[in-house]
Amino acid sequence: MAADTPLPPLRLGDVVGALALGQVVESRADGVHVGDVVTPLGGWCEETVLPAGAVRRVPDMPVAESAFLNVLGYPGITAYFGLFDVARARRGDVVFVSGGGGAVGTAVIQMAKAEGMTVIASAGGPEKCAPVSKLGADMAIDYKGPQPIGDALREAASDGIDVYFANVGGDHLDAALAVAHPRARFAMCGMVSGYNSGSRAPIPHLDRVISAEITLRGFEVFSFLDRLAEFHSAAGECVLRMR
Ligand SMILES: NC(=O)c1ccc[n+]([C@@H]2O[C@H](COP(=O)([O-])OP(=O)(O)OC[C@H]3O[C@@H](n4cnc5c(N)ncnc54)[C@H](OP(=O)(O)O)[C@@H]3O)[C@@H](O)[C@H]2O)c1
Repeated sequence: MAADTPLPPLRLGDVVGALALGQVVESRADGVHVGDVVTPLGGWCEETVLPAGAVRRVPDMPVAESAFLNVLGYPGITAYFGLFDVARARRGDVVFVSGGGGAVGTAVIQMAKAEGMTVIASAGGPEKCAPVSKLGADMAIDYKGPQPIGDALREAASDGIDVYFANVGGDHLDAALAVAHPRARFAMCGMVSGYNSGSRAPIPHLDRVISAEITLRGFEVFSFLDRLAEFHSAAGECVLRMR
């Protein structure tokens, strides 16, 4: 069976794929002008030739262009649709996000805070927890600290969680299942702890999916790329309210 992955593996010499930012230096297409700043799907390279349909002009927004590489780029798109569409997170929710110091996690923290949620985030070590708190997380859990993540989350989320934004599987997923409210919603974005280990950690609390009617929904950001206009409009508002 073919691997269930949206992108083929890279070979030596391949361009690294990404929603990169570029400037048009030559154009033969209507509506694409020299000087336009665009988000081409051509990946990271000095120069590329693309069909007009493959590039989108970045919207005029009072943000630095570099924002279209992070919070208004792939990490932000993943965070936005994962949080609001997949997990249906809303004001007042208690959200646990793992990988809180990563590209997606930092965007999730800021978007959830901008929309009035309580955020608990995990990160590895005090040097990662400090910026996570500075971004607005109400509580930062050091998953490399002496306390196992399950105990630390039980303490931090003494009233339970409504949403788990999963960048990490294994022990983090199990910890989230253990404290999830009935009908909690989990956005299954990534399971980074298991990517290279070659083994899968047991999930002793998986049966709570049934007894507490918890929804686990996996998603790929590529499924949402036809909604970029909506993202730039709604997330843009959200980004402008971020700290
Ligand atoms: N579904 C999608 O469409 C989609 C799109 C983009 C990304 N993703 C996934 O989302 C996740 C985050 O992506 P990203 O771009 O934010 O990656 P990133 O910037 O590399 O961040 C990954 C984070 O994961 C944490 N981490 C790594 N190993 C860990 C472990 N064993 N236990 C606990 N935490 C661990 C790291 O935390 P510390 O550095 O604090 O230790 C790091 O902050 C990944 O799983 C990625 O595959 C999915």
